[in-house]
Amino acid sequence: NEGALWGARFATGPAPELAELSRSTQFDWVLAPYDIAGSRAHAAALHAAGYLTDEQLQGMRAALDELDADVASGAFTAAPADEDVHGALERGLIERAGAELGGRLRAGRSRNDQIATLVRLYLLDHARIITHGILRLVDAIVAQAEAHPGAIMPGRTHLQSAQPILLAHHLQAHGWPLVRDLERLRDWSARARVSPYGGGALAGSSLGLDPALVARELGLDRPSENSLDGTAARDVVAEFAFISAQIGVDLSRFAEDIILWNTREFGFVTLDDGYSTGSSIMPQKKNPDIAELARGKAGRVIGNLTGLMATLKGLPIAYNRDLQEDKEPVFDSVRTLEALLPAFAGMVATMRFDTERMALLAPQGFSLATDVADWLVRQGVPFRDAHEISGALVRACEARGIGLEDASDELLVEVSAHLQPAVRDVLTIEGSVASRDGAGGTAPVRVAEQRAELVARAQAA
Ligand code: ARG
Repeated sequence: NEGALWGARFATGPAPELAELSRSTQFDWVLAPYDIAGSRAHAAALHAAGYLTDEQLQGMRAALDELDADVASGAFTAAPADEDVHGALERGLIERAGAELGGRLRAGRSRNDQIATLVRLYLLDHARIITHGILRLVDAIVAQAEAHPGAIMPGRTHLQSAQPILLAHHLQAHGWPLVRDLERLRDWSARARVSPYGGGALAGSSLGLDPALVARELGLDRPSENSLDGTAARDVVAEFAFISAQIGVDLSRFAEDIILWNTREFGFVTLDDGYSTGSSIMPQKKNPDIAELARGKAGRVIGNLTGLMATLKGLPIAYNRDLQEDKEPVFDSVRTLEALLPAFAGMVATMRFDTERMALLAPQGFSLATDVADWLVRQGVPFRDAHEISGALVRACEARGIGLEDASDELLVEVSAHLQPAVRDVLTIEGSVASRDGAGGTAPVRVAEQRAELVARAQAA
């Protein structure tokens, strides 16, 4: 086979079943531009070490530019006989530069150090795209919070009525995990900007090539410290897969809130027509498919992480062909998030909230009982007693079928002499949220401060 990167020591070519199993061009072709960037850098290292004349370097660069353009336009594609992107591109280079010049480029490099470098370059680019997608979603969250600075909703723990909170506080609670994901991507990028190029197959190069030059040309910080580690390690890929899975989980938890809020029973939110779907049989239906797909795709990106970790766990240190299996899961996570994030941001940006209904439901389920207990504590009552008194008031109101705010002065003192009419100050949802003004609390003033901090952290990441 003309284009193969190996074969001389074999009496026959690969069996068709082997070629079929081994071929990776159907998924590794996305690495072609990075492979060519690596080749440009490698040519510079060969030139610096005296293996290419000025003229040869020029010819090599011209051929690589031509190949790059042909890959971008689709004029050059993988052939069925190409084992992987590296083999296909060497074939393309030789077609353009001739066998004499094109055949010089492979000196001092292996597909093992190439692939370990290229996957980093690819992921670094996509980390930037995903970062941008998360930033747009944080923007949408912040805009909704800003548009509803005073809206109060029922806060729930165990999905049961707990305490009234600001809608903005709840929305921003979904912003913080995303900000941490941005910070994770930034921290990961610093670790990923290392170049295994120059490690060869496993043992390094004997040709006096400068791996730091290659790293610099590729925009990476420095070469790998250890050629074995550089070619064999995939923790940088697994860590990216983890961050992707965490982003998936964070979107999924937000999605679950939206799905609940969008039910008739909650009735907190209406999704924009452009960001909801209908039913083929039930004409009235309007479904939150973006949120459901987010929840579903979280399972998929978690699977990509666990599959990759399972691939890595038993591998002796050095390159093994199993490592070819690192790419499909992480490429899938990238594609999944890059499709999901813009849709999710659009859904959030266009959601309409029924703030009246939220406010109506906010005091239900005796959600102001903690405020009564806290008020008693501020009057000097020990919390243990305050908890008992407030609990007794809940029971008395429940027996009468009324809310805490409907209790008469007589009922209040009947439950406890400590329950003076002034307690009514905290028996409104506005009074309740305003009183929770400790750091990180749901008081409007704290939530506004928090929002400024959220925006600053997102921008810094
Ligand atoms: N296509 C391989 C991969 O994705 C790189 C090629 C290494 N093959 C080899 N026989 N050393 O990991």
